[in-house]
Amino acid sequence: MITDAPATQLNRFSQTLTQKMDNPAAKAMLYGIGLTADDMQKPQIGIASTGYEGNTCNMHLNGLSVYVKQGIQANGLVGLIFNTIGVSDGMTNGNDGMRYSLPSRDLIADSIESVVMAQWYDGVVTVVGCDKNMPGAIMAMARLDRPGIMVYGGTIRSGHYKGQKLDIVSAFEALGKKYAGSISDEDYEGVIRNSIPGAGACGGMYTANTMASSIEAMGLSLPFSSSYPATHEGKQEECKKIGAAMRVLLERNITPADIITKKSLENALTVVMALGGSTNAVLHYLAIARSAGLDLSLDDIQAISDRVPFLADLKPSGKYYMEDMLAIGGVPAVMKYLYQNGMIHGDCLTVTGKTVAENLADIPELDFENQSIVRPLSNPIKATGHIQILRGNLAPKGSVAKITGKEGLRFEGVAKVCEHEGEVIEALSKGEILPGQVIVIRNSGPKGGPGMSEMLKPTSAIMGAGLGDKVALITDGRFSGGTHGFVVGHVTPEAFDGGPIAFVKDGDKITLDAVGRELTLHISDEEMAERRSHWTQPVPPFTKGVLGKYIRNVKSASEGCVTDEA
Ligand code: FES
Repeated sequence: MITDAPATQLNRFSQTLTQKMDNPAAKAMLYGIGLTADDMQKPQIGIASTGYEGNTCNMHLNGLSVYVKQGIQANGLVGLIFNTIGVSDGMTNGNDGMRYSLPSRDLIADSIESVVMAQWYDGVVTVVGCDKNMPGAIMAMARLDRPGIMVYGGTIRSGHYKGQKLDIVSAFEALGKKYAGSISDEDYEGVIRNSIPGAGACGGMYTANTMASSIEAMGLSLPFSSSYPATHEGKQEECKKIGAAMRVLLERNITPADIITKKSLENALTVVMALGGSTNAVLHYLAIARSAGLDLSLDDIQAISDRVPFLADLKPSGKYYMEDMLAIGGVPAVMKYLYQNGMIHGDCLTVTGKTVAENLADIPELDFENQSIVRPLSNPIKATGHIQILRGNLAPKGSVAKITGKEGLRFEGVAKVCEHEGEVIEALSKGEILPGQVIVIRNSGPKGGPGMSEMLKPTSAIMGAGLGDKVALITDGRFSGGTHGFVVGHVTPEAFDGGPIAFVKDGDKITLDAVGRELTLHISDEEMAERRSHWTQPVPPFTKGVLGKYIRNVKSASEGCVTDEA
């Protein structure tokens, strides 16, 4: 709720600890960490970092948090850094590790909510850099509804080997080439050693850059947050500007409820479609909307896909990297173009305290004469969005397809059933993946996986083996933002819950139809019922620990896989 608050009320929450007589221990502890009597009058801002040393997406975030803190302090606020977890999908390696990836999103949300509530922070800045960190942070900010800003850690620079630009997907695709015998041992090692040159999130329009771009469009990070690479000086400058922006949010009591609205969610998803973003955005925006108490359905997302063309020639299906975007004006220039063409709501409020339209007023326009990353509306890569919601007897509650148009709009083939993603790699290494197959990877859903694994390894290996345009892949799991090819994920209900994907057999005919938006298993209703009659629900793969809790609480992919609803 926006109100011009008297300066004395900027510490509306922390004053419980600093101004009241009844909690001397808290005040003593705050003196103990070095605060002064003067500091006791100031608002306190929690700075949540998912920084940790173990991977390149997050390795620099604690350093960026220090710059954020400097900017916070310079604006008469107290900044207090705390950490939460992060899981890098690039390092989860197969089902065992990947099971923890999507659950980590909700753990991040829960942990940020817990610290900010328990410590009485007046606002929160989240410094995040990988796929699940960003939606987790935004879900927490929506639940907390205190002034909040997200800082994206920034995209990685591309790697280089023998004149070729590389990124993390190059490493996975090298594995497929190894299986196909089309890469030498020396070059395989060369690609692995040179794909990742330092700090930053995976460099294409994969999930991290998709979420960063669309969260900026939604208004919860400063303009250009998604466009500065991690090692660009602009990233440090952005961090230092956070304090001034936070001061404005506190003074006007602008909270996420003022920023996350149905219209701003539409802006976010419009940018996802225009940039060719990851299918994971569907899952995460369904969850963000629920955290904000808003209705957003798969049909809403399809409607946005129907009206927004796919414009950006970015990886994974295109040529360019996120680092290339800054030179053409970054995400703000794309937003301006979309706004000028009536595709973005200009009246949505943002963390600058201004509207989207006001933020875009001084942004230079895209120069279509001198750049080829973003195409004009008159010449799109695809006239409508690349994300399509398919339903049908194989996915009665929906599935999410990524259709760039390059792979065609329809695929008909015979099922090759893999009970988990490891079976695909095994089949590939034995030469059992053949043109014309629809590879069905099941038992990979939110409960059955558990954790709804990403299929980056199988899809990249298939691409590397030269089969990318010859097979299709469907799963009740997810796809990495780095995936391209004819793929359909989030098949709901999942196999664990007795969804029809559980009943597919090798050799069944399957049709993926992105025009009719159908996913069809060509068996009769009677045959489906017969197969169902022999099915029993699998024993949950975990009953304790994080994954046991996850299986008991997680909602379906069509409901964003949230874990905090009854
Ligand atoms: Fe972290 Fe890709 S694995 S951004």
